[in-house]
Amino acid sequence: MAKKAPHRLYLTEDQIPAAWYNLRADMKEKPEPMLNPATGKPVSEEDLYPVFCKELAHQEMDNDTQYIEIPPEVLEMYKNYRPSPLCRAYNLEKALDTPAKIYYKFEGNNTSGSHKLNSAIPQAYYAKKQGLNGVTTETGAGQWGTALSEACCYFGLPLEVFMVKASYNQKPFRKAIMQTFGASVVASPSNTTNAGRAILADNPDNPGSLGCAISEAVERAVSGDNVKYVLGSVLNQVLLHQSIVGLESAKAMELLDEYPDVVVGCAGGGSNLGGLIAPFAKDKLQGKTNPRLVAIEPASCPSLTRGRYAYDFCDTGKITPMAKMYTLGCTFTPSPIHAGGLRYHGMAPILSKLYHDGYMEAKAVVQTNVFEAATLFAKYESILPAPESAHAILGAIEEAKRCKEEGRSETILFGLTGTGFFDMLAYENYQAGNLNDYIPTDEELAVSMDRLPKIPVVQE
Ligand SMILES: Cc1ncc(COP(=O)(O)O)c(C=O)c1O
Repeated sequence: MAKKAPHRLYLTEDQIPAAWYNLRADMKEKPEPMLNPATGKPVSEEDLYPVFCKELAHQEMDNDTQYIEIPPEVLEMYKNYRPSPLCRAYNLEKALDTPAKIYYKFEGNNTSGSHKLNSAIPQAYYAKKQGLNGVTTETGAGQWGTALSEACCYFGLPLEVFMVKASYNQKPFRKAIMQTFGASVVASPSNTTNAGRAILADNPDNPGSLGCAISEAVERAVSGDNVKYVLGSVLNQVLLHQSIVGLESAKAMELLDEYPDVVVGCAGGGSNLGGLIAPFAKDKLQGKTNPRLVAIEPASCPSLTRGRYAYDFCDTGKITPMAKMYTLGCTFTPSPIHAGGLRYHGMAPILSKLYHDGYMEAKAVVQTNVFEAATLFAKYESILPAPESAHAILGAIEEAKRCKEEGRSETILFGLTGTGFFDMLAYENYQAGNLNDYIPTDEELAVSMDRLPKIPVVQE
């Protein structure tokens, strides 16, 4: 019999996990290896050294170590905002009149306002430890850039951020926070890199995308002096760091004698969802339990539900290695929806593999429904969610409504990845009825998917 859950359950500091969990170790079939575009052969750890710092390249390639110790310096900074609370949505449950129990893991209690700090800290730490002169990165909605700015400031490491132009214009204060922490911020596509100039030559009004900002940041890193690139999502290493979200959730649920029937998360590049589901996916892979794992993505950028499982570049400029993932094609430019952090053409290879093998489900939703769910949630749970996070809220609400129809008291866990204080323009537009639910046609998607790379023997 489950115990009466508090509205917010905080673990103690000494219950913060001491190691990240590497889901790949328990996947019988591993995600496909990254390929070197020049040779069409799998990349080695050493191949990644020009772009990533060594320890992160090692984590990227490590398919076997189940638990990887969190360095004490990283744990020390985690303690500034962790453990994060596991909340019980009593008020939302009442409003929905559902027999379901709804829990959410709230990652918005830090200045970056999201889960992104969980990976920013180790990435900045390993870069500093290697003696780098600085790092570069991209940011979509601005949360990742903010998080990395905080982490780089903490460890004393210079940072240059390429911020997707649509968000740069919608969220000027994001830029100001990053600058407060000492980062320099460039709107992408920019004319400061070859990749940016090529994209602007094609379309001077290009609103940017994560894929395009990645190209610029990677180019800057590889042409810099002892500078490397760091990425806030998609990669195996990022999902590894984000496992702290799932590990803390599992621990807190265990204390309550609870276990989720359904785990729901929003999916941009896949890092929060990959981290949240990690311990539950482990149980599922080992045949101990069978929770449903559900990804919610925007209908305007539907990589899982309408993309192809294929090798593709991780960036628009085609300078990164190729990853096997669900993708809409790296040249796809999503419409400028307000959940900027979900506008990515591909999905993390780990999640893509789980989805492909039937361990995970996916659903695409439109943004007016997302903002309706965000508003309901804000009213009843007193937290103003980020539009990205509100995708998961909508997914959880739909599950709770299904439970009501079926008369089932299931336990739902979802990831509330962040707060939406920099998204008030989006909320205003929603309230004014100005949001557009753009869904690309099959023909539009085919344009970028038909341009997926051709790799002899592997992908003709
Ligand atoms: C608040 C928030 N949630 C979710 C995401 C999606 O990223 P991911 O799929 O890597 O968790 C982002 C990305 O910027 C974000 O800012």
